[in-house]
Amino acid sequence: MSKITAAITAVGGYVPDFVLSNKVLETMVDTNDEWITSRTGIKERRILKEEGQGTSFLAIKAAQDLINKKGLDPKQIDLVIVCTATPDMKAASTAAYTATQVGAINAFSYDLEAACSSFLFGMSTASAYIESGRYKKILLIGADKNSSFINYKDRATCIIFGDGAGAVLFEPNEEGLGLQDELLRSNGEGREFLQATYGGSSYPINENTFKEEKHYIFQDGKTVFKNAVFNMADVSEKMLKRNNLTNDDIAWLVAHQANKRIIDATANRINLDKSKVMMNIEKYGNTTSATLPLLLFDYESKLKKGDKLIFTAFGGGFTWGSIYFKWAYNS
Ligand code: UT7
Repeated sequence: MSKITAAITAVGGYVPDFVLSNKVLETMVDTNDEWITSRTGIKERRILKEEGQGTSFLAIKAAQDLINKKGLDPKQIDLVIVCTATPDMKAASTAAYTATQVGAINAFSYDLEAACSSFLFGMSTASAYIESGRYKKILLIGADKNSSFINYKDRATCIIFGDGAGAVLFEPNEEGLGLQDELLRSNGEGREFLQATYGGSSYPINENTFKEEKHYIFQDGKTVFKNAVFNMADVSEKMLKRNNLTNDDIAWLVAHQANKRIIDATANRINLDKSKVMMNIEKYGNTTSATLPLLLFDYESKLKKGDKLIFTAFGGGFTWGSIYFKWAYNS
């Protein structure tokens, strides 16, 4: 019997309607469209405005899009994983609520958090369950409402982040398609450079911490940038080498969308032409866990069965990695 591999068999996505453009940001902080576009590649980002709607709102919409497109009976889903750095609330699983709302009533569900690498690491988790034969249908969602912890007075972060969600279905494959290899890493020494300090278990919010505004996300942009460029390029290059792949073999680079210059540097390191680099940062900014599935959502019609993809991401923690993947269907 042929080995079971874990393939993606459907994709869905959702971004909120509200557009926050560079022009509007110019009226909020000391910045300008030219600077943001040339330094990050971002033109606009989407924001979920309605009070009381959290990350699950985005996750549910993306999952429903996938379910409708695929004609999937949600009762057949075994497991729902919501990859997110911005869960709806503490103690209550965002994934449990999402699963129930989309009708996945026979599934169990949980959240997976590894900052901007959440979805990449989730691909590894979902694939391991499928390859083991334990589960047959896994809904893997990447969703983040970053606007919930952005300080719209901090130009180092508010220009970058946006809200959104993407979803994929993992199923067993007997043609050897799907996840081929993974190289995943973390280094806790990086956490001081990218974090929302207050509001977690180390420093719960109280009157004093609230005034300091450290419940918002903070980053030392330069240090994060340097580490992202070095590490995404490094693992992607290693991934090609150890699988005897050249740039000609690769159909697409699916890279975390944090800054266009980071993505370009990664593509350059593996000598990949820019026509093979998925890019949607200009319209969504950095949507954290949602960037990789939103790329698949936007590029689905261009993907062909057998296409060789290199996924890569970098995020807070630090966390990063690369996955070599073969696409399983023509849409
Ligand atoms: O997903 C993982 C999380 N995040 C990332 O991967 C983001 C990584 N970092 C970045 O993308 C970049 O570091 C930023 C976009 C955040 C900043 O870009 P940079 O090229 O590293 O800028 P910088 O911090 O070195 O600042 C360069 C100049 C400074 O002015 P001076 O000192 O040269 O006069 C800044 O004050 O640009 C200024 N500056 C801005 N100007 C206009 C910094 N932010 C802005 C801004 N608008 N928003």
